[in-house]
Amino acid sequence: MRRMRRLRTPGIREMVAETTISTKNLVQPIFVDERISRPQAIEAMPGQFRQSLESLPALAGALEDLGVPAILLFGLPSNKDEVGSAAYDDQGIIQKAVRTVKENTGLIVITDLCLCEYTSHGHCGLVRGEKVLNDETLPLLGETAVSHAAAGADIVAPSGMMDHMVAAIRAALDMDGYTDTPILSYAAKYASTFYGPFREAAESGYSFGDRKGYQMNPANFAEALWEVQLDIEEGADMVMVKPAMPYLDVLRAVKDMFGLPTAAYQVSGEYSMIAAAAERGWLDERAAFMEALTCIKRAGADMIITYYARKFAEIYGA
Ligand code: PBG
Repeated sequence: MRRMRRLRTPGIREMVAETTISTKNLVQPIFVDERISRPQAIEAMPGQFRQSLESLPALAGALEDLGVPAILLFGLPSNKDEVGSAAYDDQGIIQKAVRTVKENTGLIVITDLCLCEYTSHGHCGLVRGEKVLNDETLPLLGETAVSHAAAGADIVAPSGMMDHMVAAIRAALDMDGYTDTPILSYAAKYASTFYGPFREAAESGYSFGDRKGYQMNPANFAEALWEVQLDIEEGADMVMVKPAMPYLDVLRAVKDMFGLPTAAYQVSGEYSMIAAAAERGWLDERAAFMEALTCIKRAGADMIITYYARKFAEIYGA
């Protein structure tokens, strides 16, 4: 009789594991706030902090020592305006943050490329009335990408879900000589309620409407494959599915169909659900995030952007 349980004994169980996950697969997101001088706790994300430009190098150094290979930077500027000019200012917070990290560490620096943290209305593009404009936004994304690359960003990651953003960014980078800067596109990004805690973390709430006019409907699967295909045709080097856990079917399909390096983003709400339940003693935090990350990897992610990257590295090593 075939007994499946024979291989579930300690030692053998690990030997036959089909999926392994390592610190090398993880990317730590970091929020850098221009207005503060010391790290500030993010209430909606227990255990996460906004960094200052001054505190950033020490954190980056610690992550490097732990073996975390890469970080994803988000900027909180001291000034926002209608056109998000702080996003493409060479002296902007993100540009300074990139330079600091590159001067102090060998980490791979990925920059989130979007206008929403920099616009006074909080949308990911220019607006006219209550309409978020697509084509008018593209040159600004190109300009932002070039300023990130000039500051030393290793990879730019456009997250605004504007049509043709990858093509516009690729053209802008190439024109300025940054032909070797890869684009990690937030290709299948859903209009998700699980971004809730991020709104506090990055202060990127919006003054009207929602993001349903540019981010995807959670009900859709086939559309995600179109999004990914179009981004690849436009020049994306890597693609992302976001959020991760409720969208593992999409992740599996994207990896199988396109075979490109594929990232999954375990977003703020996914983090906070585990962290908050753990605070109450309802979940074992370590076991919960290990299971979540393993399953995201099993579903096809080559890399996972996760607020648990540091903790994972502290526990499991490089
Ligand atoms: C910016 C952006 C968002 C996230 C990453 N980049 C917020 C949004 O689209 O509303 C969410 C990340 C998270 O929740 O951890 N466009």
